[in-house]
Amino acid sequence: MLRQLRTASLRDAPHAFGDTHDGALSDDPDVFDAAAAQHAVSHTDTSFILYTEGHPAGLISACFESAAAHRAFVQALWVAPAVRHLRGGELLVNTAIEWLASEGATLIHAWVPDANVTAMRFYERLGFAATGDHARSRQVPDQWETLLMREVRGRAALASVQ
Ligand SMILES: CC(C)(COP(=O)(O)OP(=O)(O)OC[C@H]1O[C@@H](n2cnc3c(N)ncnc32)[C@H](O)[C@@H]1OP(=O)(O)O)[C@@H](O)C(=O)NCCC(=O)NCCS
Repeated sequence: MLRQLRTASLRDAPHAFGDTHDGALSDDPDVFDAAAAQHAVSHTDTSFILYTEGHPAGLISACFESAAAHRAFVQALWVAPAVRHLRGGELLVNTAIEWLASEGATLIHAWVPDANVTAMRFYERLGFAATGDHARSRQVPDQWETLLMREVRGRAALASVQ
């Protein structure tokens, strides 16, 4: 399932991620099975699948970096084109944030390619803002990415003053 969704996302939106379709397909299916099994029990790395009417239709990963700062990230977000604008993306991000918060995160980060205006607007709408960090994509060096961040309780705090 993880491989199927990851492949579908890269086929649909190859420039949306700092990754390539060929890279995902070349990975042994066993690698995805092992990752899914590990995600089910891990406290540092997991993924959530969006189901609509019983069908898998979206994906997000949530993880803590291994570096000492141990920052929390959401990444590899994708919603199938047929079910966009139905708040599936928002549900995935909020679910991933809840899990990261339950594991101790107070700040949530996301790298977004500068060219992905849709994702940039989507994350901004959910309360993320640019940190000032800007870097070349490791997988696609001619692509630049911006690091976004929000507080776990950022949206709730915003709502309380409105
Ligand atoms: C980004 C993405 C996950 C959003 O998923 P979604 O389920 O459509 O998002 P939601 O329904 O929760 O949208 C919430 C809001 O985000 C913003 N948004 C979503 N798509 C947008 C678009 N194409 N243009 C501008 N804003 C958009 C809007 O404010 C939207 O609210 P609205 O539908 O009332 O206009 C989806 O477009 C996607 O999978 N894109 C391809 C993969 C990708 O870019 N992933 C991110 C990699 S960093």
